[in-house]
Amino acid sequence: MGDKIETLLKESRTYHPTAKTKAAAYIQDYEAEYKKSIADPEGFWSGMAKQLEWFTPWHTVLEWNYPWAKWFVGATCNITYNCLDRHVRTWRKNKVALIWVGENDQERVFTYGELARQVNRCANALKQLGLRKGDRVTIYLPKIPEQVVAMLACARIGVVHSVVYSGFSAPALASRVNDAEARLVITADVGYDRGKTIPLKPVVDEALSHCPSVEHVVVVRRQSPGWELAAPKEIDWTDWLHSQPAACEAEQLDAETPLYILYTSGTTGKPKGVVHVHGGYMVGTYATTKYVFDLKDDDVYFCVADPGWVTGHSYIVYGPLLNGATILTAEGKPDYPNPGRWWHLIERYGVSIFYTTPTAIRLLMRYGEDWPKKFDLSTLRILGSVGEPINPEAWEWFHRVTGGDKPIMDTWWQTETGAILITPLPTVPLKPGSATRPFLGIEADVVDREGNSLPPNAGGFAVIKKPWPSMMRTIYKDPERYKVYWNTIPNCYTAGDVCHKDADGYMWFMGRADDVIKVAGNRLGTAEVESALVSHPAVAEAAVIGKPHKTVGESIKAFIILKQGQTESPELIQSIKDQVKAELGKIAVPSEIDIVPSLPKTRSGKIMRRVLKAKELGQDPGDISTIEE
Ligand code: WTA
Repeated sequence: MGDKIETLLKESRTYHPTAKTKAAAYIQDYEAEYKKSIADPEGFWSGMAKQLEWFTPWHTVLEWNYPWAKWFVGATCNITYNCLDRHVRTWRKNKVALIWVGENDQERVFTYGELARQVNRCANALKQLGLRKGDRVTIYLPKIPEQVVAMLACARIGVVHSVVYSGFSAPALASRVNDAEARLVITADVGYDRGKTIPLKPVVDEALSHCPSVEHVVVVRRQSPGWELAAPKEIDWTDWLHSQPAACEAEQLDAETPLYILYTSGTTGKPKGVVHVHGGYMVGTYATTKYVFDLKDDDVYFCVADPGWVTGHSYIVYGPLLNGATILTAEGKPDYPNPGRWWHLIERYGVSIFYTTPTAIRLLMRYGEDWPKKFDLSTLRILGSVGEPINPEAWEWFHRVTGGDKPIMDTWWQTETGAILITPLPTVPLKPGSATRPFLGIEADVVDREGNSLPPNAGGFAVIKKPWPSMMRTIYKDPERYKVYWNTIPNCYTAGDVCHKDADGYMWFMGRADDVIKVAGNRLGTAEVESALVSHPAVAEAAVIGKPHKTVGESIKAFIILKQGQTESPELIQSIKDQVKAELGKIAVPSEIDIVPSLPKTRSGKIMRRVLKAKELGQDPGDISTIEE
């Protein structure tokens, strides 16, 4: 009870921007700017778009044919022209674009000029392999600069990239390669994690024995002596780029040309290929990076995400580069080799903007305040959080150890939304635990199933009421699945999150309304994990729930029915966990597995996960009249 009261007290606290934050900020008066922006969203977005360069202008800002959107219709552009050429033409040519740090502190630095040359070489190399506009390339790389170079090189020539997080196992990689029908896979021999070497090439080899579309594999070789490659199918990255010219014009693309496919988890076992396009995505990531993080030319911007997930796409690669930022990215974990890792990097590079996750903050909290105290963090000015709700305790801790006067941007968004939608701006008063208000040009609400707006403090569904430029355009090869987002609740986009608004219009996100789990901010579907579980020969049926967890937000708990003749043993449980790891990857392995004699099901045979979850948490399971057994 004491805890609860403390939480409530903290939640009601409001933090106002300091004079210093206010003096620096682009947006001084959020309320006024917001009102203006939603009175004329197309005017707002086209104003943002005009800050970027287009080869030919649009004739129509938005063509909205519910639920299909086209933005900047008739325009041609290329996102990489705005990420690179626009800066290289100016004094930013020799400005640092990207600083990469490895686990053991080795450093690689790319200026805008050098990044452009690398990207151009890679784009030319792609062309030489016969890749053309519209082809798909799967990028399965650890967090190294080649990942950024490969993404931009694809985009440069209109090739669609599909980045797959390097923690996914062979079957998960194969299903993504096959859905995209990728012609090329770019990978590395190994990744490094907490000092351990993680082989990646063998995972690719295993996956590709099931992927007929792949013609070539390019391998970044990090180990010496280098791994053997089977020519001509397998090509070394360095050789591949070596003889290529450092110039390659950006292809002039229709604004609606697909930029990438990024697979994400939904309510069924099959991941969804979310499609984003050059024009609108460029405008959305540019505008949000600029205003949410108040990004200026002398900032050093550190985002801890992995480009394998959407945060890396939008807020390590595209958004910051569009703004000409200096980006810091680091391989490895926040507590390796010690819990001072990130604080050390902030001091070493003079980081001013630090974008991280609630799980990482809670992990660092466990190690205590002495770690951040050891370092000079005085360069920090704006902080960010993403991926899951941040509890007020973690918010307060993060705020305090970084000096007590830096605003925390709790940014809510999704793979599907492409860019941040609900978020404070640095001058907006903050309430710990709330993502606050919609970004400029975004109309959001909390509604019931019929779409009726709910009164303050009533829990409901988070929805977006109008299209926005960086919204996904479709689900690759599955337009019906795309339509679901706009047809679940009438006349709006349903995010799948439960939320309430307080009397000030601040939004409080509570978690998912569907069968998506967020483990350490990583998005997984219960159905995906269940299908990995039943692929084990001893498992007859499985049900999976997300269970609140102190550090990682949610942990995975599985309930399984064993096949007849199987008996429970620690060895069997371990072998089932190993199976999930082999099918999906380490991040999907349940932390708890209960063997049960039966599972609650509806008469039509659907497993009622909500009943399992309520029982697990000691809550009222609600209406169970449809339960069969
Ligand atoms: C959750 C990650 C609360 C939410 C960018 C959403 C959040 C899902 C926040 C999308 C936040 C993301 N507060 N919840 N600030 N940010 N979420 O596609 O449930 O990996 O629907 O995109 O993460 O996850 P995704």
